[in-house]
Amino acid sequence: MTGMHHMLVHFPEAFWALATLLILVGAFLPGRMAELSRAALLPVLVLSLLGALASIVSGSLVWPLEANLASPMVRNHILMALWSLGLYAMLTVLVWRAGDAAFDGARRWVLVLLALIGGLLFATTGTLGGHLAGAPTRFSDLLRLTGWEVYTTFYSPLWVITVMVLIGLACGALGIMTRRQAR
Ligand code: HEM
Repeated sequence: MTGMHHMLVHFPEAFWALATLLILVGAFLPGRMAELSRAALLPVLVLSLLGALASIVSGSLVWPLEANLASPMVRNHILMALWSLGLYAMLTVLVWRAGDAAFDGARRWVLVLLALIGGLLFATTGTLGGHLAGAPTRFSDLLRLTGWEVYTTFYSPLWVITVMVLIGLACGALGIMTRRQAR
């Protein structure tokens, strides 16, 4: 199953990267390019979720559960994979429910913010996977600067949790304000 996981992980990683790029182009560029990016976004997001599910299933079959849970690096890899899945699932629902209006006005900033956070999450998932497979990258040096030692640390630093709670509150407030304005 190792080879299968190595092969399958390219699908969510590539589709998540593409979805992030499409959101940035759809939000910031004018004209035909932006229209095409917005139109392509939902199918790309749906494909990314299918790829992620296949990666999670194949990843779970690489090593026995006991081995996965005994390693801080695998635990972080699983955690980041699930966070990435959750974030891009949320983006998929937002884009699906809002349809053409997903990029209207201030709404685009929600997509941009989520896409940038998603970019960090899936890059971290991939870089931890690379360490597990014996192919470390310089991206982990960036993680180290945040206080995260990829070989040992299994926790979210307090500032990360604080930022996540603040983002959640800001998104909730933004949603309530936008709904009030729409009435
Ligand atoms: C969206 C989900 C996931 C993504 C994108 C992902 C990504 C990756 C990547 C990029 C690699 C390195 C492969 C290579 O260098 O060719 C990797 C390796 C690995 N992943 Fe995942 N992964 C995911 C989910 C999981 C899950 C849920 C588990 C465990 C429950 C897991 C366990 C592993 C293990 C054990 C390796 C090392 C395999 C080896 O021995 O070479 N992965 N993953």
